[in-house]
Amino acid sequence: MAKKAKVITIADTKGGSTKSTTAVNVAAFTASSGLKTLLLDFDLEQPTACSYFPLLNEAPFGVYEFLITHETDLNNLISTTTTPNLDVMSSNSVRQEIVSHLNASADGIIRLKSCLNLVAYEYDVIVIDTVGTVDKTVNMAVLAADVVLSPLEASMPGVREYLRGTISNLFRSLIPFTEYGIALPPVYTFFNKVEENNDCKRIKALFNQQVAGLTSLPFSITILDKDIKKQNSYKVAASLGIPAFKSYAENDKSIIHPYKITKQQAQTIKEDIYYLCMTVLPEFQTQFDRFMLSDAV
Ligand SMILES: Nc1ncnc2c1ncn2[C@@H]1O[C@H](COP(=O)(O)OP(=O)(O)O)[C@@H](O)[C@H]1O
Ligand SMILES: [Mg+2]
Repeated sequence: MAKKAKVITIADTKGGSTKSTTAVNVAAFTASSGLKTLLLDFDLEQPTACSYFPLLNEAPFGVYEFLITHETDLNNLISTTTTPNLDVMSSNSVRQEIVSHLNASADGIIRLKSCLNLVAYEYDVIVIDTVGTVDKTVNMAVLAADVVLSPLEASMPGVREYLRGTISNLFRSLIPFTEYGIALPPVYTFFNKVEENNDCKRIKALFNQQVAGLTSLPFSITILDKDIKKQNSYKVAASLGIPAFKSYAENDKSIIHPYKITKQQAQTIKEDIYYLCMTVLPEFQTQFDRFMLSDAV
């Protein structure tokens, strides 16, 4: 039997913390490394991940039919993208509809974990993007994950919301599930959009101190050593619908401010995404190293 996909959920409870950017770049990196990858857009309010990459074939259905009407034909659920090895399942429903269905069902927020069995043997990696708020769909995506990657903006509101919303309201609220044999996934947190100034340094030190003071959690929270810097290339890449680790130059002389991602900028971002992928998917080091050595940027 084929190997079961590793499920990475990107989650925290703050909008704008770079979840979708992380999800699309991690998914594009694993796909570019030759791993069959499914990007599942679970932000049912502001779908970003599923509309990021140009599609080759657009499936008529998405998350709603996958979870609620139990559609099993993958051709109806999954769209292929122009990026080789990268497929997406789109967020096609308003959040409230899915949440009310799940509230009325006995299996509630553990449903995604079992539904994923339909696609788990078709892929090496499944990346789930989520909405930035305390929400049942986020709880569900965390419970279905093997590992959680959690970006955090290096600002005081970002840190406060992370401690209150993400750790207390999101992760801690799932602790009762451990009584039923469901292990909570390890969480890897990293600072994103970091600027080289004292404010960022103080905020990071405060956060490290607060997390070190948390005791008796039945899941691990690891703060990554490496930060991701604030870089305009991420925005340029989003406008172009390409991974931020691809270099790009617009040659049209009539454009006053052409889009540009230099080889150097692309390489720096490739190293950042490699680091994130190695943290959550160390078993694929060989494939990642091969992609790093290739000049496909
Ligand atoms: N490292 C970065 N530096 C600068 N801007 C970034 C970086 N990463 C992401 N962004 C931008 O930040 C904004 C919010 O990111 P997004 O991924 O949509 O957040 P979320 O999904 O958590 O709401 C987007 O405009 C994105 O292009
Ligand atoms: Mg988002």
